[in-house]
Amino acid sequence: MGNVIFLAGARGGAGATTCAYYLGCALSLAGERTLIADGDSACGDGLQVSGMSGLNVYTLADAQKGACRVRQAILKHEKQINLFLLPSLNCTDGEFISRAVCESAETFDYILCDGCASSACRRAIIMTEPYPSSIKAADKKIARLKDGGLGDVGIIVNKVNGGLVCNGEIMSPQEISSLLRCPLLGVIPEDLGMPMGKCGRAAAKAFKMTADVVAGRSAKIYGVTARYRGLGGSIKRKLRNFV
Ligand SMILES: Nc1ncnc2c1ncn2[C@@H]1O[C@H](COP(=O)(O)OP(=O)(O)OP(=O)(O)O)[C@@H](O)[C@H]1O
Ligand SMILES: [Mg+2]
Repeated sequence: MGNVIFLAGARGGAGATTCAYYLGCALSLAGERTLIADGDSACGDGLQVSGMSGLNVYTLADAQKGACRVRQAILKHEKQINLFLLPSLNCTDGEFISRAVCESAETFDYILCDGCASSACRRAIIMTEPYPSSIKAADKKIARLKDGGLGDVGIIVNKVNGGLVCNGEIMSPQEISSLLRCPLLGVIPEDLGMPMGKCGRAAAKAFKMTADVVAGRSAKIYGVTARYRGLGGSIKRKLRNFV
C-alpha cells in the first residue's frame, strides 16, 4: 500500500496543484512511482499544469459511467519516468474518486491527492502562503482535518520571498510552522516564472528537498533567505523596492 497524501491549499491559489505536480516530479525522479490524483473536476487544472492536457482519452467521469476501468484513465507523463496522473475532469462524486484512489494505491509508492479523496488518505499536507490571511485559512483547514481524524498533517510554505523574511516584513516559514503547531515539510521560494509554466533552479531544488522530507529521507528545509544575506543580499533587497 503506497503513501496516499491529501494535498490542499489553505485557500484558493495557494499553490496546491503546482506543488502536487513539482513534488510529484521530484518524488518520481527519486525513483518513487507517483500518481497525482487531480481533484479539479471543473477545469482539470492538474492536466494543464503537468502539460498533459489533451492527452487524456478517459477521465474518472468515464470510469464512473462504466465506459472504462480506473486504470485506463491513468495517464503516464511523457517525460517524467515514474510519474502518472489520474484526471477527475467532469467527475463530481467525491466518494467515487476516493474509491478509485484506494483501488490504485497498491500499484504506486505515492499518491498525491490534489484537493480530493481525503477519506482515502492518512496523511495531509497543507500549502500556505506566508501572509496572515493564508495562515489563518491554513489554521482552520488543519483544525478541520484533525477534527475529521487525520492526525498526520504537515505544511509547505509556498511563494516565500526570502528578502521580505530578512527584512522582517513577513513571518519566516519556521515561525508559521510553530504558530500553526504543524511540522514544516518544505519551503518553496516565490518564482515569477511559475505562472508561465517554468520552474526555476531554486524552486526545483526546494521541491527536491521537500520530496526528501516527505519521503522521510532527510529533514533539511530549503533555506529561502540565504541569497538575501550579506552585502550582495542586502543590495538585492534594496533593488526590489525599485523594480
Ligand atoms: N512558488 C510560486 N511562486 C510563484 N507563483 C506560484 C508559486 N506556486 C504557485 N504559483 C502560481 O500561483 C497560481 C496558483 O497556483 P495553483 O493553481 O497551483 O494553486 P491552487 O491552490 O491549486 O489553486 P486552486 O485553489 O484554484 O486549486 C498559479 O498561477 C501558479 O503558477
Ligand atoms: Mg488547484
